[in-house]
Amino acid sequence: MFKTMIEPFRIKSVEPIRVTTKEQRKHLLEEAHLNVFKLRAEDVLLDWLTDSGTGAMSSAQWAAIMLGDESYAGSPSFYRLEAVIKDITGMDHFIPTHQGRAAEKVLFSAVCKKGDLVPNNCHFDTTRANLEYAGVEAVDLVIPEGLKPSLIHPFKGNIDLARVEETLKLHGARIPFGMITVTNNTGGGQPVSMANIREYSRLLKKYNKPLIMDVCRFAENAMFIKIREPGYENKTIKEICQEMFRYADGATMSAKKDGMVNIGGFIVLRDDQWLDSVREMLILNEGFPTYGGLAGRDLEALAVGLVEGMDEDYLRYRLRTAEYLGEKLEAAGIGFVKPTGGHAVYIDAKTILPDMPKEHYPAWSLCNALYLEGGIRGVEIGSVMFGKHLPDGSETYHSMELVRLAFPRRMYTQSHFDYAAEAIAEVKANAKLVRGVKFVKQSKYLRHFTADFRWA
Ligand code: F0G
Repeated sequence: MFKTMIEPFRIKSVEPIRVTTKEQRKHLLEEAHLNVFKLRAEDVLLDWLTDSGTGAMSSAQWAAIMLGDESYAGSPSFYRLEAVIKDITGMDHFIPTHQGRAAEKVLFSAVCKKGDLVPNNCHFDTTRANLEYAGVEAVDLVIPEGLKPSLIHPFKGNIDLARVEETLKLHGARIPFGMITVTNNTGGGQPVSMANIREYSRLLKKYNKPLIMDVCRFAENAMFIKIREPGYENKTIKEICQEMFRYADGATMSAKKDGMVNIGGFIVLRDDQWLDSVREMLILNEGFPTYGGLAGRDLEALAVGLVEGMDEDYLRYRLRTAEYLGEKLEAAGIGFVKPTGGHAVYIDAKTILPDMPKEHYPAWSLCNALYLEGGIRGVEIGSVMFGKHLPDGSETYHSMELVRLAFPRRMYTQSHFDYAAEAIAEVKANAKLVRGVKFVKQSKYLRHFTADFRWA
């Protein structure tokens, strides 16, 4: 075997990257109130803010778009996609939504009530916000290994079953369902093992609770299972996905990830217990049940994308990409969540800025520094995203200070990753020059998207 793993695609259509200078970027970042979410995308060289909806579609997907049937009700595009989704998930009911958080909102508002509690390995920010907005307590119960960035464990996304059982015993009456997020985005893009999904499902059944999976990155999770979990090495990705879904009673999906599309999402449900109320919320918020906030052409692109997203050569290259950047960071003495996850590398900001006080938001500050140094846009997963401004004016802080570099699917080549590794090493070499930040303005929910900052 050769050492170099090639990108398993050729490029048919290109988008230019606009090169900026450090001096320009300083000005642009200050104009954006030290919040990279407020930058214009054209002012970014490597846009690794998110892997969500940012990937390149294939020629087959673009071709499928022309088959889109835009009928309001009963479009053939819906039925084509439904067949693909039923085949993968084995669930009877497919409910399209315009993206993942819409699936969450529709499901939670149909099924949860104020005072409920939902356990998960780690809730993603929109999942947590949607639950909290509905008055539901969102509880993260990832295994302790999942919170230690430098610790190597094959399935750091696993949920802590002992703590789940404790929670079921203590709060059973408040729990409408259990959730599990594959892969665990908030915890570092870490996979969940098949054994953990199976046991979690069994435990929930014992207490008569359904399992709802957040399956944004189900195919990447399946590839990790294939590589790391004994007994799965000879199974196809589709077979592994089908088994994962067998343990669940339903799922929410942001198709903007492993669905390989720029927009889309869905809910699947195994039985019809919640179906009427879910459809009602869907019609109220998203649209008629055969399009759910999407165009017919979006449904077609997704039907092709879900299958392409399970391609083993693609997934092998995909996981290797993150690992490759991880190896370069390791060589530069930079800490990151280990092993690298599926869709992203999560830099441990404390290893670059060990002396910066938490009140200056080290991960946010590192994020800004990566933009200033190399024009790289990542996202803070730390105390700006997960800390809270309490009514008494005090602040809470997150257990980890991470910067996530998330890779759009089929977009960037190896030289982009080599460049990034150089730029990040440069930030570390000049870490003393990295400036902290202070809030100027923040909102109550999802404050990272809109907050303004000043230099500390
Ligand atoms: N669940 C998980 C695990 C996610 O990662 C996301 C989105 C969602 C739900 C919501 O889906 O964006 O389609 O509404 N994650 C993106 C990210 C935004 O950057 O990780 P959505």
